[in-house]
Amino acid sequence: MATQATPDLPTYIASQRDNATLRFITCGSVDDGKSTLIGRLLYESTCIFDDQLQALEKDSKQYGTQGEKIDFALLVDGLQAEREQGITIDVAYRFFNTDKRKFIVADTPGHEQYTRNMATGASTADLAVILIDARKGVLTQTRRHSRIVAMMGIRHVVLAINKMDLVEFDPSVFVRIDAEYRKFSAPFDFTSQQTIPLSALDGDNIVKPSPRTPWYNGPTLIGHLSTVDIALVDALGSTSRPLRMPVQCVNRPNQDFRGICGRIAEGSVQLGDNVRVLPSGVSANVKGIFVGESPRARAAIGESITLTLAAEVDVSRGDVLVALEDPPEVADQFEARLLWMAESPMIPGRPYLLKLHHKETTATITDIKYCEDIDTGANLAAKSLALNEIAMVNLSLSQPLVFEPYARNRTLGGFILIDKLTFATVGAGMIEFALRRASNIHWQTLEIDKQARAVMKLQTARCIWFTGLSGAGKSTIANLLEKRLHAAGKHTYLLDGDNVRHGLNRDLGFTEVDRVENIRRIAEVAKLMVDAGLIVLVSFISPYRSERRFARSLFADGEFVEVFVDAPIEECERRDAKGLYAKARRGELANFTGIDSAYEVPESPDIHLHSASSVAEICVVEVLKKLGIS
Ligand code: ADX
Repeated sequence: MATQATPDLPTYIASQRDNATLRFITCGSVDDGKSTLIGRLLYESTCIFDDQLQALEKDSKQYGTQGEKIDFALLVDGLQAEREQGITIDVAYRFFNTDKRKFIVADTPGHEQYTRNMATGASTADLAVILIDARKGVLTQTRRHSRIVAMMGIRHVVLAINKMDLVEFDPSVFVRIDAEYRKFSAPFDFTSQQTIPLSALDGDNIVKPSPRTPWYNGPTLIGHLSTVDIALVDALGSTSRPLRMPVQCVNRPNQDFRGICGRIAEGSVQLGDNVRVLPSGVSANVKGIFVGESPRARAAIGESITLTLAAEVDVSRGDVLVALEDPPEVADQFEARLLWMAESPMIPGRPYLLKLHHKETTATITDIKYCEDIDTGANLAAKSLALNEIAMVNLSLSQPLVFEPYARNRTLGGFILIDKLTFATVGAGMIEFALRRASNIHWQTLEIDKQARAVMKLQTARCIWFTGLSGAGKSTIANLLEKRLHAAGKHTYLLDGDNVRHGLNRDLGFTEVDRVENIRRIAEVAKLMVDAGLIVLVSFISPYRSERRFARSLFADGEFVEVFVDAPIEECERRDAKGLYAKARRGELANFTGIDSAYEVPESPDIHLHSASSVAEICVVEVLKKLGIS
């Protein structure tokens, strides 16, 4: 029998979906008093034990920044290092409750470089408390956070105008900030938006209405959080919607049992239901439902279950079990909104790993439709994306995926992008819609194939990819190799950077973005030529590992031969046949490889030639030997 893994924290949090639990995030700049506010909420909801209170009083004296007052921030800035630096780093989930509701709050850092943590916290929240320092008003940071909050699908917002004690509880400050924020947030069309004047430090309008704000007759913060209606508009909370269950794994402990495990992302399932497996489309009746070891007749949204089917159908990790009516779409091209979270820029054409529910596939951004100005929301043209930028993009995947628009279903519509080399998460995306249905575009299977074409030429089709610095000798060696192959009766073609850049790639320069596109196109052309049965020689600097890896991925095993033409830069510069190094040194040529543009050395090339110490003829013999041609 399958055993259920203990759910991780985000899974647990996501499963707490009902009107009795409110999940919210707090966002604000470092000094807006966010930690103090959360500390105060924990304190007021008496979620602090006496010994914690004593420790807090002691710590307040040692580390506190509030003089004789209790420093509530110390309750939540748990880590010593954080305390000493006075900042919060990471997402911390806190739990507290009042007699009306349970609360789960994601405390996310305010520093700009931690936007990704904020997006993580926002992805499971129903409501956002956006903190503003009454003295500073609406800042760029406020606008950035609000935009991410809206983008992540949060529909309820509290604008907490904090530190009102420092502006003498002046109502005009409150009115001015409220009006400015409402004007900014109007396009987001939040379902509810409440502005509250506060002093987190002194406790004004946290639990009890403050006598110092007689001009304010709205709810207190706890009052509002306890009563705001999130269930009515939270489509995810509804169990009447059709079943969606992404498959996490298939368990087969013995011949008779085949359990399909996953968490129900939407809807419910009961014994006897006919469910469909996507993307394959086959369907079967539900024979058994288990939560842990216990059999059940029915299970619903948020529950992690193991399910057995009456018929033997193919199911694997990344598939989605769905109700027969109103199934989700399957597609390999999307338009999506993307938040870029890496230091290195996002470059169209570069392959990334995309993870959507339990499915992973390769994805490239084929187009940046526009980049959104974080302040004004204006749509700007962009060729690449920098850290924390948000853009509407088109994505192309190597396999079709089962998905739904993020606005309808966060689990089936929210994805992350992962760097293929470092495995770091570099982007978070929200699917808007499919650009075309994968099922409408077929790969035309041709009857005369690569093998047939190559056999007629009495050769094995191959792509021999030369990479190395300008002046390392790539073209000289490739040229000589082609002559030798030709003399041996082989059918070849040589694609050379300098030549291709006069025609097919004449629109491309030498920025990182353009080089990625240069190599992408050449790799695709080389692939077609190999398909035609040719031995293709490719001679490009091709400075980035990521694109060389992409090129390799287009070919069958053994078909792609990476040849690193390795010469020290000093030697290339000494040769300087085209005079380009001298120009680059004089500052007349920008982005020159090896000078002010990177060359990422191949880690495990198929052939490593030391072109400074051996003559071209010897290098060619080495390649021929490796290819088994002599
Ligand atoms: S790649 O980086 O995109 O692979 P590619 O091989 O097509 O480059 O083109 C390199 C050739 O363009 C060099 O051999 C050199 O003659 C020329 N060139 C002109 N400007 C540059 C530059 N900034 N960096 C490198 N090569 C340049």
